Amino acid sequence: MLAVRSTFTGIVDALTLTLSLTLSEFSMRSFLKQTSLWRFLRGIKRGMLPPAGKVISAEHRIGKLEWLNPPAAVEARQTIEVQLRVLNDSPIAWLGTAAAPLTVRCQWLTRHGKPFDQDPTSLGISSPLFPAEPQEFRLSLPTPDVVGDFILQVDIVQEGQSWFQDKAVRTPLTVIGSRATDIDYHSVYRQANLQENHWWVVGAYHSKEEYDRSMQQRLDMLKDHGLTPDSWLLDIGCGTGQMAQVFRQFASSKGGYSGCDIGREAIDFCKKEFPIPNFHFTQSEMTRVPFETNSTHDMAIFFSVFTHTFTDETALLLSEAKRLLKPTGVIIADVITSDLVERGAGHRGEMTVNRHHFERLAAMLGYDSSVIGKWPWNRHSERIMYILRPHSCASC
Ligand SMILES: C[S@@+](CC[C@H](N)C(=O)[O-])C[C@H]1O[C@@H](n2cnc3c(N)ncnc32)[C@H](O)[C@@H]1O
Repeated sequence: MLAVRSTFTGIVDALTLTLSLTLSEFSMRSFLKQTSLWRFLRGIKRGMLPPAGKVISAEHRIGKLEWLNPPAAVEARQTIEVQLRVLNDSPIAWLGTAAAPLTVRCQWLTRHGKPFDQDPTSLGISSPLFPAEPQEFRLSLPTPDVVGDFILQVDIVQEGQSWFQDKAVRTPLTVIGSRATDIDYHSVYRQANLQENHWWVVGAYHSKEEYDRSMQQRLDMLKDHGLTPDSWLLDIGCGTGQMAQVFRQFASSKGGYSGCDIGREAIDFCKKEFPIPNFHFTQSEMTRVPFETNSTHDMAIFFSVFTHTFTDETALLLSEAKRLLKPTGVIIADVITSDLVERGAGHRGEMTVNRHHFERLAAMLGYDSSVIGKWPWNRHSERIMYILRPHSCASC
């Protein structure tokens, strides 16, 4: 009986295929599919299929899943519409039961292929999937709540068993920061009244006292790592001059400070606030620091700057720091790091890097990186303060 059925369905498939190939044009095939003859033959074919049983056995889980509209990247904490096509290539119809429903399941995996800690999204398949009759499904999928380089895995699941496993659809997808949290420093500075709010424009300080405390703590940290009153300090992304303010009380007449920032208003503010000999301010470009006196600084600082630059920009800014530092000069910089990220992911509002990638960049420029501070950031990332010392520099 099984042999008769499969011969018959084979003949019907061949007949319909021949018909459609003869007509050849896609539009003609679509037209044909609307006809009573087509539907009649399809009805007979469906009726002749062997019963599926309660759970589809492994030998009949032959088919193909396709993600029809994959984006190039998605924003964190959004819902995207996923359009899928499922093709049953087995000789039986796929149909779940109330006790063992069939579902299409989307699961976010980390870049290492491990399940990400976010519940999978499933869609029940409520009508039979007949052989050689692809069906499309749409489902709303929440994106991960953190940035990273993820993989979206789509599979068919019945009774907790993934059908395709290694052959499931696995699409690498970068999750970037949500647009709502992005920022543009130029417009931030344009809109700010820096005389009044220079201290909160630049960071997440809750009060002026907290800002003042932070500047003192930062100075102490720099002193612990070699800053002296005679040092020349390079402050890239100096903002409204928090470190200029504290360094002016500490610096001797031999010391000096060079501050730069992409924000023109911030630089104009600093020039007015700190008209001090040996203190220089200039507006910089995204990857260029327009001080021309090479090899003159003892220490370069990037405070909350690489948390807003893309990794290739970070690399170029580190090169600029190296150019302006003495051969013994050190760099102190903080970054947000996460292993979910291959190199870097995020946006200007908040950029996250892979710490090994950051350390590799430093090593390529000839620096050894050491962690001098570390704080939890979100459940998958931490904030790290680094010191980068030139390789084989005994005195720094
Ligand atoms: C969060 S604020 C920190 C300011 C200052 N470093 C502080 O800690 O008070 C980041 C600053 O980096 C600046 N910035 C962002 N990208 C930059 C770049 N590529 N080069 C120079 N400055 C940049 C912004 O304009 C902004 O002033």
